[in-house]
Amino acid sequence: MSPEPEDLSRVFGALVDRYEQELVHVHSEPDLRALHARFAGREGEIRRRLAEALREAPPAHKRSIGQAGNTALQRAEELFAARLQALRQAARARDLARTVDVTLPGRGRRLGHLHPLTMVRRELEAIFGELGFVVATGPQVETDFHNFEALAMPKDHPARDMQDTFYLPGDLLLRTHTSPVQVRTMLAQKPPIRIIAPGRVYRRDDDATHSPMFNQIEGLVVDEGVSMADLKGTLLHLIRRFFGPSLGMRLRPSFFPFTEPSAEVDMECPFCHGSGCRTCKGTGFIEIMGCGMVDPEVFRQVGIDSERYTGFAFGGGIDRMAMLRYGVSDLRLFFSGDVRLSRQFL
Ligand code: PHE
Repeated sequence: MSPEPEDLSRVFGALVDRYEQELVHVHSEPDLRALHARFAGREGEIRRRLAEALREAPPAHKRSIGQAGNTALQRAEELFAARLQALRQAARARDLARTVDVTLPGRGRRLGHLHPLTMVRRELEAIFGELGFVVATGPQVETDFHNFEALAMPKDHPARDMQDTFYLPGDLLLRTHTSPVQVRTMLAQKPPIRIIAPGRVYRRDDDATHSPMFNQIEGLVVDEGVSMADLKGTLLHLIRRFFGPSLGMRLRPSFFPFTEPSAEVDMECPFCHGSGCRTCKGTGFIEIMGCGMVDPEVFRQVGIDSERYTGFAFGGGIDRMAMLRYGVSDLRLFFSGDVRLSRQFL
């Protein structure tokens, strides 16, 4: 026998009362939603009972049964909303009550800063800037002509073996030194020329003191009456400004196809001042650059009159200079991208 509508509304009323009692025990929003679903959700107790009653009731009762169900559901919704609001208020009150110790030191904010190689490059640019040099640049992907040919190294020249080259398709390569910027500059402008060219260069080399990519700085001066004494004075100025005011320097005869005469630039070891230590391998000197007077053959290649003009050029590793300046023993640290290194050079 189907229950009377009055009985049903008592059943619904009791369900909602139970819901209300259990509500007191939920203390989080997820728990609240779960409980609500159990009583008033789509598959909850109230709807289940309602559907059952409607199925069994005679048509005359259906309307009032439906109303009783809706009343119960509506009460449940109200109870839910009230409890939800209470929970949220309580959470907010807890947040506000949390004490903050305003005397604790703040968390420091790290400032960005330059990479040590950038600092060194800028310092070198400034030192040469004072002497009237301007900065010139060239592409890292070079032609065989600019990197070798115009520097008096034709295709079969043995000096090409000194620089293990990364060749690219076509007549292209990754420049093995910054000297092609000499060629580009002399092709583009007439003397007087006074440039430095810092930049990346590439060689097939990889160990603690050699990286397949490293940085060089090139210098070139072309004018009437430029002599080896000018070269020597410029380099000595560089060494004393960059490494230390009292350091000595020596030019050791050497060979480069594009300079004549040529020399290696050795500076007095800044760590032992010439008495010999581990860094200079007991020699008292450290090789930092190659240099020389521009070979007339190079002038011929770029169309400069070698009867009228003379010039000097030098080139060396910026990274090596940075290693010596900062006492960094592994070149690869500079290229590792590890901020723990660069942070030390604030
Ligand atoms: N380009 C040479 C090298 O990389 C260095 C150099 C530059 C020598 C200019 C003489 C003149 O070894």
